[in-house]
Amino acid sequence: MKVRKAVIPAAGLGTRMLPATKTVPKEMLPLVDKPAIQYIIEEAVAAGIEDILIVTNRAKSAMDDYFDYYPELERRLESAGKEKELEEVKKAADLANIFYVRQKETKGLGHAISRARRFVGDEPFAVLLGDDVMRSEKPVIGQLIEAAEKYEASAVGVQEVATEVIGKYCSVQVSPLEERVFLASDMVEKPRPDQIFSNYAILGRYVLSPGVFDILEDLEPGYGGEIQLTDGLRKLCKREKMVAVDFQGRRYDTGNLKGFLEATIDFALDHPETGDWLRGFLKDKARGL
Ligand code: UTP
Repeated sequence: MKVRKAVIPAAGLGTRMLPATKTVPKEMLPLVDKPAIQYIIEEAVAAGIEDILIVTNRAKSAMDDYFDYYPELERRLESAGKEKELEEVKKAADLANIFYVRQKETKGLGHAISRARRFVGDEPFAVLLGDDVMRSEKPVIGQLIEAAEKYEASAVGVQEVATEVIGKYCSVQVSPLEERVFLASDMVEKPRPDQIFSNYAILGRYVLSPGVFDILEDLEPGYGGEIQLTDGLRKLCKREKMVAVDFQGRRYDTGNLKGFLEATIDFALDHPETGDWLRGFLKDKARGL
């Protein structure tokens, strides 16, 4: 079993980031100098993924343009001797084989994933949510792929969250297999306090067996009237083996304002052009200057 393909669902409406996301896809909002989705594609590529499908909608064509060549701009940069900028501009277009499919109606994450059936075919595939950006030494999706390949199972990426906030996530029933890897036997989306299985919450990364597509096709709308991926995964983990990987890395939900700002600040602190300056700026702010 080898994971070669990835799906990035990016067809959500982004209502938590309005008004900016009225015309700019939230995945295209920059984290310092690159759009959020580029970090996600770089994570997939670093984990050995070759083919990537982005699930988009009619308001997201800025994404396909971004991952394309732009000859007029490239010629201008070349004649101005702006080699670094030219390299960066071209790099985005050469990152991976990127494919697109439109989710014609915004019917939920499970529905978005089901649009990938023809692209995926009959092999396991990675899923990286378009607004969950990770910072880690080893690519987070690579950590999941390793466990999925070892156990010949689907895998969900989890981390422990506080009891007060687990109700915002999907809580997973887990039993230990090895350090940081669990068997996942059940899960519940946005649990009430009496429904919590554990404090392990699924956070934006999955490796799924193609068996999920039959399940998604038959699913009724769930929480919020949407076809929920979690409802499909709940059925999948009862039919086939699924592991939960407590991944190493920091996850940012860039689909909400605070997560977006946290990512912006952390990435800017690490960036060679902005790190020292931002540290000084924040110190001055903290001193009330
Ligand atoms: P979110 O829950 O973040 O929803 O979706 P959203 O619509 O993008 O944002 P808000 O809540 O309105 O601010 C999680 C992931 O699923 C994708 C989103 O693009 C995001 O990557 N998604 C969601 C779809 O692709 N299609 C959908 O119908 C719903």
